[in-house]
Amino acid sequence: MRKTICLLLALCFISAFTWAEGNELDYTSDFTDGTDGWFGRGAQIEAIDGALLVSGRTSSWNSPGRYFELVPGSKYEISVDVMQDSLDSAELMISVAHTKDRRETYENLVRGKVVKGEWISLNCTYTFGDFDQYILYVETVGNGELSFAIRNFHVKGEALSYDMTLPRLAEKYSPYFDFGCAVTQLEALNTVRRDFYVSQFNIFTCGNELKPDYVIDLPASAEKAKADDTAVAVKFDSAKPMLDYCFTHGLKVHGHVLVWHSQTPEAFFHEGYDTAKPFVSREVMLARLDNYIRLIMEYTSETYPGLIVSWDVANEVIDDSTGKLRVSNWTRVVGDDFVERAFEITRKYAPEGTLLFYNDYSTPYEPKLSGILALLDRLIAEGKIDGYGFQCHYEMTTPSITAVHNALQKVADRGLLIRISELDIKVSALNDSAFTMQAGRYEALMKEFLSFSDSIIAVHTWGVSDDLSWLSNKYPLLFDKSLSPKPAFYSLIDLVS
Ligand code: GLA
Repeated sequence: MRKTICLLLALCFISAFTWAEGNELDYTSDFTDGTDGWFGRGAQIEAIDGALLVSGRTSSWNSPGRYFELVPGSKYEISVDVMQDSLDSAELMISVAHTKDRRETYENLVRGKVVKGEWISLNCTYTFGDFDQYILYVETVGNGELSFAIRNFHVKGEALSYDMTLPRLAEKYSPYFDFGCAVTQLEALNTVRRDFYVSQFNIFTCGNELKPDYVIDLPASAEKAKADDTAVAVKFDSAKPMLDYCFTHGLKVHGHVLVWHSQTPEAFFHEGYDTAKPFVSREVMLARLDNYIRLIMEYTSETYPGLIVSWDVANEVIDDSTGKLRVSNWTRVVGDDFVERAFEITRKYAPEGTLLFYNDYSTPYEPKLSGILALLDRLIAEGKIDGYGFQCHYEMTTPSITAVHNALQKVADRGLLIRISELDIKVSALNDSAFTMQAGRYEALMKEFLSFSDSIIAVHTWGVSDDLSWLSNKYPLLFDKSLSPKPAFYSLIDLVS
């Protein structure tokens, strides 16, 4: 029995490495002529009549498994038919055993109820994290001794038909400004996607992974706080894939974001990092902020010298309806000068030449615009700010080009640099004419940006392909889900060709 398992394991290693490459994977099991690379994980398997029978189990994890070469960060459709003939009903699931640096960990992908004698289909869509090896397998929930059968195990990778010969946005716009995008961790891990991204963009920002929620290590901070409540512990495991990739490939990164009311752990503001305890004092919070920013600047400048060229020091602190400071834990704990203090601290620790930005949305609308300008004036007076991040999450017709022009002009008149930091445009319908209109809207806005190219240093779209956008049902970006360029992409290319 042991020998058989070893032999099967060896066979399946061979088949794993002759398997389809990259995201080409489109596999359906074929048990008509053997076990097709599957092996028993503490179970016996036998191919009979196009199905794989699984028996001799003693634990719920005992299962049929198979190695698959999967692309980290890539999306797969996975399905299997399962059947058992012993219990009135049992639960079965598709799971993955993945290995990184020789450590095996597990995830359950989908589970379903399987009634006696009936073939039931389990299916899911799954995006895999970064591992060296993957075994997909089918196990039971409890019922460790249950025998069962599987057939039609199907795995299909997303079809990314990217074209490396497309004109390159970053190159076309290089006389005017950098052209960048926001990227999440899974995209940065996806070897197929990231090569395409680099063919189009020359500056990247983490969609989430440099936000306080990801960077503050709460358990470690709480531990340190026992001795010193101003201490902070940070971690960069989520941001690392993108930072590593950009550093290795000589790309630029914009850091987003140090101080924000959102995506920041509540515990950051409390004594001992314990939300059950009161807020810390202003002094302790400012000392925490000082430590937090210092640690980020130390880590990034030591690990990736020269990589991060600019930072959003603060994000969205102005209230939409009043134009005054938004009430948040920052105003409650530090007070109304927290933005000024954040800039002061960042300037103290940021490597020389790092550009510091304030970033916000709905810039062209009053009373927000006046509120933003008043804040910028205060920051300019303190001499710590370099520029303003104009987010630009826009609709098809609003804000008007005139309103955008007016707002850009007011910021540019103050001598500040501008980053169009989070551009995306929602479509109002799902048809060809809507995508043509979207292209027109991108073009009209870009014309405006080009007319401010003395002040604008970068334009970033907030994402690359529609399916991974935060507004995926509004198809707001330049590429579709298979990374094919949309009319909006060509309108931007034609504008500068
Ligand atoms: C804001 C933030 C970004 C991001 C987007 C939505 O604009 O600045 O970090 O969260 O919302 O994805």
